[in-house]
Amino acid sequence: MTTQTLATTLLSPFDLAGLPLKNRAAMAPLTRGRAGKERIPNALMAEYYAQRASVGLIIAEATAISKQANGWLNSPGIYSEEQAQAWKQVVDAVHAKGTPFFLQLWHSGRSSHSSFQENGQLPVSASAIKLNGKCRLNTEF
Ligand SMILES: Cc1cc2nc3c(=O)[nH]c(=O)nc-3n(C[C@H](O)[C@H](O)[C@H](O)COP(=O)(O)O)c2cc1C
Repeated sequence: MTTQTLATTLLSPFDLAGLPLKNRAAMAPLTRGRAGKERIPNALMAEYYAQRASVGLIIAEATAISKQANGWLNSPGIYSEEQAQAWKQVVDAVHAKGTPFFLQLWHSGRSSHSSFQENGQLPVSASAIKLNGKCRLNTEF
């Protein structure tokens, strides 16, 4: 395939099981850690996603489904009414550019840490199998 053909294909519309995409580029979920301590989506996040909405599909960063699911600093959640409402500004900004927006739902399970859990409890997991390697609490995103 020539570069020209590849670019033409990449930029051509795609039907994703009935969901029309304006091109075949998709943004992978990327945790940014910009939702603050309360994990509420904000105007900066709306701007960030709108700036990238020339792709055919955006899959938003991993988003905690419950308090217990948290395992990363300042990553967003969608377990309170306030968080769910706050996501609307982000979704609206992306939809305004004709781009569908998926949310990646996240439970960090055994890779969480007691510092994220209420009363310093141990995290819960689907199994008791130990996580190999180090889990770092990254603040650099
Ligand atoms: C800063 C950063 C944040 C990421 N956050 C997520 C995430 O929230 N959810 C996820 O499934 N993958 C996450 N990833 C993985 C990326 O989505 C992607 O799969 C990975 O970077 C490999 O893509 P590549 O093969 O194009 O480099 C993250 C990667 C980076 C570098």
